[in-house]
Amino acid sequence: MAIACPQTESHIALRNQLLQNALRPEPLPFKIQSEYPIVLGEKGTEFSHCLFHDDRIVAHANLWPRDLMDSLGQRVAKVGLIGNVATDESYRGQGFMKQLFQSLESKAILADLEALILWSDLSLFYQKLGFQSLSQEWHHQFDLRHRRGAGNFRLIPSDEIHLVDPTTLLAIRTSTRYTLHRSPNEFLEMLHIPNLDLCLEYGIHNEVIAYCITGKGYDMIGVIHEWGAPSIDHLVNMIRFVQESFKFPEIILLSPGTLAKSRRKQLDARATKTVKGPMGLVKLLKPSKSIELALDQCFIWGLDSI
Ligand SMILES: CC(C)(COP(=O)(O)OP(=O)(O)OC[C@H]1O[C@@H](n2cnc3c(N)ncnc32)[C@H](O)[C@@H]1OP(=O)(O)O)[C@@H](O)C(=O)NCCC(=O)NCCS
Repeated sequence: MAIACPQTESHIALRNQLLQNALRPEPLPFKIQSEYPIVLGEKGTEFSHCLFHDDRIVAHANLWPRDLMDSLGQRVAKVGLIGNVATDESYRGQGFMKQLFQSLESKAILADLEALILWSDLSLFYQKLGFQSLSQEWHHQFDLRHRRGAGNFRLIPSDEIHLVDPTTLLAIRTSTRYTLHRSPNEFLEMLHIPNLDLCLEYGIHNEVIAYCITGKGYDMIGVIHEWGAPSIDHLVNMIRFVQESFKFPEIILLSPGTLAKSRRKQLDARATKTVKGPMGLVKLLKPSKSIELALDQCFIWGLDSI
């Protein structure tokens, strides 16, 4: 048994096949690696950890070091995101993923990462590996009950995504107490993920004043997982526009648990349902009061999760 990053094109092809079989068993019009252009991309092999056994790749997980920033743009901690976790079906239940996680944890400690973060419904499995709930987020559900107000909205076709200025979007994105750093180049790369829709609202001088993103490959269909708007009125009108455009019977809006109370109450009043729940799962590697506070109040946008 050995754990290593994929070194050859054949390793990458075997890894992609393992992930496709384990995580995307139904046929889709795009490949799993196109959903994670950075960590499963050609330049991202250092984030990809494969467990080799019997001359095969039998288990895989990504470990992606990221900077956790405060609202002033200062780094407060280095954390590791874990994703694309899968063991080949015929090798499950033999402790392979547990061994892979032990190895990732040692690598993370060596790299000075203070916590590991992931997203999953398999909370029992991850509890066994030492993970617990991370932070809180709001889910507001909207249906087509209300009529849309005025606004100059536009869905950006995929062949125009390269014309979008990611710096403008980052500047108008809803503020968070703590979130992950994302460079404009990374943002642009992520906007090319299949099944992702970007909606912009333009002001009177044709400048972008609001945006929202729905969908992300196989995930987040009918979910607005990133947004920025000058007011809740603008946001709700944009939600209606997206809903009408795609004929979604309902749409879910994700927001930071620390969203300003006044904005949250306005959303509550317009939504058909409001739920608050854990944002993800975390394992602290280097406990301290400051990292615990930052993790407790952090919000990680859908595009940054893996
Ligand atoms: C979930 C998965 C990665 C587990 O891999 P694995 O190599 O079989 O796991 P291990 O054998 O190392 O199991 C480690 C421990 O977790 C337990 N476990 C494994 N799968 C579990 C599950 N689905 N729910 C709860 N516990 C689970 C094992 O019993 C073992 O417990 P023990 O230490 O008390 O013996 C694998 O089942 C898989 O690839 N599933 C399909 C893809 C998937 O769901 N990935 C996770 C997406 S977030």
